[in-house]
Amino acid sequence: MKFFIDTADIEEIKTAHAWGILDGVTTNPSLISKTGRPFKDVVYDIVKIVDGPISVETTSDDAKSLIVEGQTFAKIHKNVVVKVALTQNGLKACKALSSDGIAVNVTLCFSAVQALLAAKSGAAYISPFIGRLDDISEDGMKLIQDIVQIYKNYNFSTQILAASIRHPVHVLQAALAGAHVATIPFKVLQQLFHHPLTDRGLDQFLKDWKKVPK
Ligand code: G3P
Repeated sequence: MKFFIDTADIEEIKTAHAWGILDGVTTNPSLISKTGRPFKDVVYDIVKIVDGPISVETTSDDAKSLIVEGQTFAKIHKNVVVKVALTQNGLKACKALSSDGIAVNVTLCFSAVQALLAAKSGAAYISPFIGRLDDISEDGMKLIQDIVQIYKNYNFSTQILAASIRHPVHVLQAALAGAHVATIPFKVLQQLFHHPLTDRGLDQFLKDWKKVPK
């Protein structure tokens, strides 16, 4: 399973990259806005740190403008993946960009039939938002399982990118379901490392080691 970090915060990206477990980065307009910086500066910084897919989200209205925006993003760096929302215009743009060899991440996916449409449009990634479904008392993980099954049935090459992850159990369940990628906020990435028995066990080992004659 690939791990992407879901942030536009450069310090978080640098820290997670240094852990050696990072395969890519996803951003969205809200995450970019939090940085208070021009988006291109942020993207140029990110591509210098992580040598893997970096999703950058389009914000145009119509399909033609989305295509132009996506082509502009793709010119920034070879690792840039163009993110489009799962709308009719978004999928039109996805089809056109994918046909031109530009990788597209279709975002804001909340149903399995939407994911089917994205795969048929040539998406490189589909981003089902599991946390936001859980927030409204729906089952986000069931969506991942359904998409895994549907893509398997028809041999789609679109990668399932579990998004809107809120806690380590989401990562565990997405991995068990067979999602190709999890895009994970920095705080949750940190949480993945921790187990109280690891801390307690290490503490004991280090105490005992001090008693060993040197
Ligand atoms: O980047 C897309 C997605 O991961 C957003 O997550 O927490 O805003 O629902 P969240």
